[in-house]
Amino acid sequence: MEPCEFPHIASQLAPIFARHGRDATRLLQVLREVQDAFHFIPPEAVSCIAIYLDMPRASVEGVAGFYSFLSLKPDGEYRVLFSDNITDHMLGKPELMQYFCNKLWVEPGKVSEDNLVSVDSASCTGMCDQGPAALVNGWPLTNLDNNRLDLIAELIRLRKPVADWPPMLFEVADNIRRKDVLLGEPLEPGAAIRATLARGARQTLAEVEIANLRGRGGAGFKTAAKWSFCHAALVEADGSEICDVGATLKRIMVCNADEGEPGTFKDRVLLASYADLVFEGMTVGARVVGASKGFLYLRGEYRYLLDKLEAVLARRRAQGLLGCDILGEKGFDFDIEIHLGAGAYICGEESALIESLEGKRGRPRNRPPFPVTHGYLGLPTVVDNVETFACAARIAERGGAWFAAMGTPQSTGSKLLSISGDVSRPGIYEYPFGVTVEQILRDCGGVDAHAVQVSGPSGTLVSWQEFGRRIAFEDLPTAGAFMVFHRKREMFAAAHNFTHFFAHESCGFCTPCRVGTQLQKKIMDKIAGGHGTASDLEEMKNLGHILKTMSHCGLGSSAANPVLDTLKKFPGTFERKLKALVFEPAFDLDGALETARKITGRDDEWAHL
Ligand SMILES: Cc1cc2nc3c(=O)[nH]c(=O)nc-3n(C[C@H](O)[C@H](O)[C@H](O)COP(=O)(O)O)c2cc1C
Ligand code: SF4
Repeated sequence: MEPCEFPHIASQLAPIFARHGRDATRLLQVLREVQDAFHFIPPEAVSCIAIYLDMPRASVEGVAGFYSFLSLKPDGEYRVLFSDNITDHMLGKPELMQYFCNKLWVEPGKVSEDNLVSVDSASCTGMCDQGPAALVNGWPLTNLDNNRLDLIAELIRLRKPVADWPPMLFEVADNIRRKDVLLGEPLEPGAAIRATLARGARQTLAEVEIANLRGRGGAGFKTAAKWSFCHAALVEADGSEICDVGATLKRIMVCNADEGEPGTFKDRVLLASYADLVFEGMTVGARVVGASKGFLYLRGEYRYLLDKLEAVLARRRAQGLLGCDILGEKGFDFDIEIHLGAGAYICGEESALIESLEGKRGRPRNRPPFPVTHGYLGLPTVVDNVETFACAARIAERGGAWFAAMGTPQSTGSKLLSISGDVSRPGIYEYPFGVTVEQILRDCGGVDAHAVQVSGPSGTLVSWQEFGRRIAFEDLPTAGAFMVFHRKREMFAAAHNFTHFFAHESCGFCTPCRVGTQLQKKIMDKIAGGHGTASDLEEMKNLGHILKTMSHCGLGSSAANPVLDTLKKFPGTFERKLKALVFEPAFDLDGALETARKITGRDDEWAHL
């Protein structure tokens, strides 16, 4: 590497650079490793990275400043991040975090004086079925209570490396409560690929179409349509005959494992225990669209799954299920690389995800062009959810008609739900599409529930009057979150929590969302503090309209959903918090016009407001 002016830092960076090479798309991965090594990204490291990757220093700093798991200021040697989802709150997160901070003499959001520990909140860490949860230096902590926190505080005080802590602290259970076609039987590795090769790529695409598979990431786009657009997109032939899947990029297959929607954790379980099914689905997709390279975009919060997933990939390579001439099929070359995120919900949005894969800030792109024609490095790219790939593998194995026989006409197959909140049996439930909210509540022990937040904060709040509604694209579409609220819960608290989430996660690119989410949060804080009036509710409705209609991407356009839904379905929860119920304008516009009326000598109807 070229010398940078800080030799002491350069020597520590050398092995990181050696691992990633002089490739700007690796910037985020480099920064993650630097963060691990130094507990922050020192300014000298920013300079060295800029020189090594031949990019402006400001670009490196811009990326480092974007992701919440990266820090340009020193962090504690132990960084403890408490999950801030409403379900964690309901299980006592605020009190537990304060208890922990008191024990370690540190203020929330700050670093202890001896630089030993920092304690802060993180957006939902995807362990709502076993909260309150937290991450310590990326390792998962579940079922937190005072006893566990006493032990953790002691281990930190003793400066024991996290890798040597008792393993029981890091147990993350799958909590699968109901299985159906997806989770029911293990897949024999290679079975779906063999079926695809026997049937041929064109017929496999036809099976996905017959299955009427729709994306499980939330929007429900038809998977066969997406795959065929990508296949149809032209790629310049590079004439290479030698299999080097990294060098001969054609089309790209991306598995979206960002799973940042609060209350969602089904992708975590698929990756922890059904990784073969997911990788098999990606390989089937690669055969159909003609992709040579795949990425698993794994959210930073699931980093603890990385080694296990790498081991599955290595085994699959050894089994001839990845790499060159897969299963002996000449020219069928495909491999998968795992790319870690670093704590940014927006990176689940497919074009922001692609930016992040390219090592940049996760900023949603203008569309068109769409990723299927111009995605990763300008190549045709499919981005699909983890569960979508798992479904695709099953369809390749058993056929489209088999899949289409389940569910409803517009929502075929099954859906994984991540159930949390006020239920006696939280966890993963797989149902055929069409199941009612009422049935689900009966199964998971959601007794006396008065509301369910379906599909997370950006989804729909369902009140008890609507429990007959069905999980299906034609009624209640969902990416999988199902958060249950007992009738004693004030729904204001949930809406308040969600406004904080959106304000924190807005990427800041467009003004309606950057400013709108902050204003929404501030008004909710004001109401929570007992200072709200009816005019604040009107203001939030107006803000909601601006967010919905003027935001650049789905984050902004759904950021007002929780407030608007709660105002509509649980108005009482707001009214009980207000200081004044009557509308009190902050400014009397008609009164202000009085002087003008006197000067002009008018007092007719048109001179009043
Ligand atoms: C703010 C935002 C966050 C998103 N997060 C995710 C996510 O974590 N996982 C996911 O699969 N899709 C997410 N999506 C949807 C993706 O943009 C994309 O539609 C999806 O990955 C397509 O996969 P599918 O067709 O299999 O559903 C998100 C969308 C938005 C607007
Ligand atoms: S809507 Fe929000 S998240 Fe999306 S681009 Fe605008 S600021 Fe970023």
